[in-house]
Amino acid sequence: MADFVRVAEATELPDPGKTLVEVDGDLIALFRVDGQFFAIDDVCTHDGGPLVEGELTDHKIACPRHGAKFDIRTGAALTMPALRGTRSHDVKIEEGGVWVRLRSDHATDGPSAHAAVAPTTHASGVLSGIASGQPSHASSRIAEAAAPPASSPSGNSSQSLSEELVYEMLKEVKDPELFVNIVDLGLIYGVMLSPAADAVDKQHVAIDMTMTSPACPAGPQLIADTKRAVGGHANVSAVEVRIVMDPPWTPDRMTDAARDQLGIF
Ligand code: FES
Repeated sequence: MADFVRVAEATELPDPGKTLVEVDGDLIALFRVDGQFFAIDDVCTHDGGPLVEGELTDHKIACPRHGAKFDIRTGAALTMPALRGTRSHDVKIEEGGVWVRLRSDHATDGPSAHAAVAPTTHASGVLSGIASGQPSHASSRIAEAAAPPASSPSGNSSQSLSEELVYEMLKEVKDPELFVNIVDLGLIYGVMLSPAADAVDKQHVAIDMTMTSPACPAGPQLIADTKRAVGGHANVSAVEVRIVMDPPWTPDRMTDAARDQLGIF
């Protein structure tokens, strides 16, 4: 087991307060709340955000990047998009100093039933974003265009094509880790239909979609599933999925239905 390392003077940190320290080469977020000290890894398990730079409220720290909250006493993940806890460490006060000893285990609890089994996350959300204006497309954007597949799994092909119908078809696409559809998660920023250049009775469908992090590992699958869900409609000539990272996803973009499904209250 590692030894305790003196990291600060006990009087240095305000109450409440937080600071970044280094222990055995690891970056540790050190907190003081109600006279007690706590230490957790300065790493958000969603996508590596620096927790010590987040907002501290009581015993909760909010990741400054996408808003996941962690319990500073245990390292447990309390809210999406983090699905698993970060490491918490032993702290003692001795000789006027704050001493930290690293632990090797992670808190395993998370905000949803899927938390314990998901090694990483990437969720997404934006239902309110659909109604709250178009996102800027100035930042990273990956254009993906595809011819529709031969058949549609949606069963909506008999209905006339509209933006509303596209949203319905998109509800068939589920995040592979969270098992919640991408509309309720808030991944869809917008849907645009325009006449196809090569067929009078068909339309080109452009879909603006976000991810919870630029390196989301499920991104390629979500793009492929989106094309498959929409591209099978008889009046679709092509589906273009444009990945938009500005504005970034935040947890408040999820619908109540998604929150219910994930057990977030
Ligand atoms: S990196 Fe912390 S919530 Fe995304």
